[in-house]
Amino acid sequence: MAGPFPFLWEKGGTSPVKELFGKLADGTEIHRWSLENGGTRLKVLSYGGIVQSLETPDRDGRYANVSLGFDTVEDYVTGSPYFGALIGRYGNRIGAGRFTLDGETYELSVNDGANSLHGGADGFDRAVWDVEPFTDGPDVGLYLSRTSADGEMGYPGTLAVKVAYTLTERGEWRIDYEATTDRATVVNLTNHVYWNLAGEGGGSVHEHRLTLAASRFTPVDAGLIPTGEPAEVAGTPFDFRRAKAIGADIRENDQQLLYAKGFDHNWVLDKGGTTEPEWAATLTDPSSGRTLRISTTEPGLQFYSGNFLDGTLVGSSGKIYRQGDALCLETQHFPDSPNQPTYPSTVLRPGETYRSATVHAFE
Ligand code: GLA
Repeated sequence: MAGPFPFLWEKGGTSPVKELFGKLADGTEIHRWSLENGGTRLKVLSYGGIVQSLETPDRDGRYANVSLGFDTVEDYVTGSPYFGALIGRYGNRIGAGRFTLDGETYELSVNDGANSLHGGADGFDRAVWDVEPFTDGPDVGLYLSRTSADGEMGYPGTLAVKVAYTLTERGEWRIDYEATTDRATVVNLTNHVYWNLAGEGGGSVHEHRLTLAASRFTPVDAGLIPTGEPAEVAGTPFDFRRAKAIGADIRENDQQLLYAKGFDHNWVLDKGGTTEPEWAATLTDPSSGRTLRISTTEPGLQFYSGNFLDGTLVGSSGKIYRQGDALCLETQHFPDSPNQPTYPSTVLRPGETYRSATVHAFE
């Protein structure tokens, strides 16, 4: 709205704008929603609830997309390692793709060696979501919803899922997840943005500095399934309690780093599971001056250092993605919880509501 003080009028969130992004092979239209608030710009696809672009300003006010992604639906369908996607029904791995609940054993879609990863071969990241825009006072956002059928990827229970992506007036990107079921099942939802705070295609993130509010992590076997008891990070490359460069210890001769080709582990957040989002991680890029601060209700966080990027994918700015060109910080319950009775439970029963929230604040 033009007025005597245009800058004042132009502040605040813009209503989400919808455009056609492309089509799936069967003709299904995939839309892209663009929204902006508090200095953050977000582009979201109805396919996989994918964050296709997330722009924030650097210390000089220059905007860049700080998340890896593609320009076409085809690229997402054929070759995406979960770039920006909503992950479900179970984020992370379930050992041997199998779990037992109330005496019944369920066989899941196995898509990562012998294990089930990120919900199986056709997880929530490959589903078409219903998207509805909303404004809530000074905030703007999108509701993404879908129903996962009983038996989808082997999981029991019809799961009704609703996710809100909100851009707050402070430019935070907040995710609120909700789910209900008609039969006992397991749920662990997350988002798989690959961060590069220097800008997508900007090279290695090994100079980014990371702080994790965690004194313990869950060591894994060669298939990246936790072996059980959490271990102290003190005295290991896994100690990020004080800000440390991603690359500082990544080449240590450590069995855990060898198994994962870098960091690809679950940190046990000291705060535990909480009702309100509490601080979990801070990521800073000294070159651009951008900082990302993550708070969550979840008890765990998977830090993955982009180990499997191998130069075969070409991203949205036309640059190829190589190992370590981005990192993921996935808020979650611990991997393989359905088979680990001592971990916080991921079981959801009829009449209960699964809730999880994560806030990404940018500076
Ligand atoms: C997750 C896993 C990684 C890897 C990526 C996708 O974060 O933990 O091992 O599979 O997804 O490549």
